[in-house]
Amino acid sequence: MRQLDIILFGGSGDLATRKLIPALAHIMQNSDLLDHSRLLIAAQDVRDDQEFRTAFAARIAPHLSETTPEQLDRLMRRMDVMSLDLRAEDAWRSLSDWLSPANDRDIIYYFAVPSFLFASLCRKIRQHNLNPPQSRIVVEKPLGEDLTSAAEINGVISETFAETQIFRIDHYLGKTALQNILPLRIQNPGLEALWHADSIDNIQITLTETVGVEGRTELLDRIGTLKDMVQNHMLQTVALLTMDLPQNLTASQIRRGKIEVLQSLRPITEDSILSNMVIGQYRAGTLGGQTVSGYQEEISASAGTGEMFVALRIFIDTDRWAGVPVYLRTGKRLRQRCGEIVITFKPRSASPDANERPRRLMIEIHPDQNILSDLPLTLHNPLAEGENTRIQDAYEKLLQDVIQNDQTFFVHWDEIEASWRWIDQISHARQKVNVPMQSYAPGTNGPISSHLLPRQDGKYWYSNRVDKE
Ligand code: BG6
Repeated sequence: MRQLDIILFGGSGDLATRKLIPALAHIMQNSDLLDHSRLLIAAQDVRDDQEFRTAFAARIAPHLSETTPEQLDRLMRRMDVMSLDLRAEDAWRSLSDWLSPANDRDIIYYFAVPSFLFASLCRKIRQHNLNPPQSRIVVEKPLGEDLTSAAEINGVISETFAETQIFRIDHYLGKTALQNILPLRIQNPGLEALWHADSIDNIQITLTETVGVEGRTELLDRIGTLKDMVQNHMLQTVALLTMDLPQNLTASQIRRGKIEVLQSLRPITEDSILSNMVIGQYRAGTLGGQTVSGYQEEISASAGTGEMFVALRIFIDTDRWAGVPVYLRTGKRLRQRCGEIVITFKPRSASPDANERPRRLMIEIHPDQNILSDLPLTLHNPLAEGENTRIQDAYEKLLQDVIQNDQTFFVHWDEIEASWRWIDQISHARQKVNVPMQSYAPGTNGPISSHLLPRQDGKYWYSNRVDKE
C-alpha cells in the first residue's frame, strides 16, 4: 500500500463535514486503503488547534452512519489542521514543509471550495513545486458558471496537472444505480437489442428534492437549477444511458462514449425554447407538515432570478436516438426526494390495443436502488447482486477510486466542454426570449405547466414514485 497525503482545501466547509470526512472515516473503517495516510485540513477559520478539533468532531458526528467514535478518533489523530490564507506566502511554505516534497508519497489535493478559487490554488501549488507526478487533484462541480469561465479555470488546472492527474467529481457517478447502467446493458443482450429509437418511445429522468436553497442562496440564485443539476448530474445520467456500449469498461472508452452523446444534443434555441423548457420557483406553503418559506423570502439580498425547478424536453441527434424525446425534470421543495429513470418502450404492434399498458424499465437511483421492468424479458439485475452488501455512499466510492487512481467514474474535460456549450445555448436563448418563471406550491411535483412538455408529444410524466398514472 502506497503512502498517501490528502490535503482538503475548504476542509471545514459543509461538503467536507457532511460528506468527505465521514467518507474517509468509512473507508478507514472498511479497508486498509488509508493505513499509511496523513490528512491535512486546510481551512480559513483555524485559530486554536484544539478548539477547532473539538468543534469539527461535533459537526461530523451526526453524519457518520456506521463509524464508531473510536474510528473517528483514529482519523482525527491522523489529521493535521492548518490555517491557509491563500494569499500568505508563509502558509504555502508551511504546506510545503508538511508535504516535504523530497519524499515520494502520493498526494491528493481535494478542492472543496468554490470553483473561482481553483485557479489561484493551482498557481500556488505550481509556484511551490507541490505538483509532482504522483500528485492528483479532485475538483468539485460546477466547474465554472459557463463555458468561458470553465475553460479559463480548466486551463490553469491543466497547466499544473496532466489530465491523468485530474479527477473532476460528479457525485452522481458514484451512485450505485448509475454505476450499474452499463453493466445492466452489457449483461442483458436482449435488453441492449431494444436500446434504440425503433423500440424506445421516450426516456424520462426525475430528480426531485424536498430541501430548499439551504443557505446557498447567492450561488444557487446566480446559477439556478439548470447549471446546478442539469449541466452535470442530469447530462451525465443521459450520457451513460444513451451512449453506445463500449467494448471495454475502461475510463477512456466510457468517456469517449459519453462525449459523443453530449456533442449530439440538439441545441435549444430561441425558436425552440418555449416548447422545450419550463422553469419555476417555489412559493411559501407546507411540506411534510412543516411551514416553509417561499424562494423569494429566502434569497434576501440576491436578485431572485434563479430557477429552482427546471423541466426540459431534449433530443439526441444520432441514428440510435432519432426522434426519441428525453424529458428531464428536477427541482427543490417538491413532494418527495426521488431519483428515477423511466424508459418507456413502444407498443409491440403498429395498432396496439387501447388497453395495452406501456412496457417500462425503471431504474431507481434513490431513495431505493433498484431496477423494475415489465418487459417480457428475464433481466439480470446487477443491482440485486449487491443486495446484502453494504451500500456505500457515492463520495466514499469516488474517494476510494481517487486513492486507487481510477478515473472511470470521473468526468473528462471534453464532457464538461460539451455540456457547457449546450447549456450556454439555452442561457443565450433565455436572454432573447422570456421564459416565464412559474410559481409552484411546495410539496407538489412542480409547475403544472411542466406537463405541457410531454403532452405536446402525446405523452405524460411517469415516475413510479412521484406520479400516479
Ligand atoms: C448537488 C447540488 O450537486 O446535488 C445540490 O449542488 C443538490 O443543490 C445535490 O441538492 C443533490 O444531490 P443528491 O445526492 O442529494 O441527489
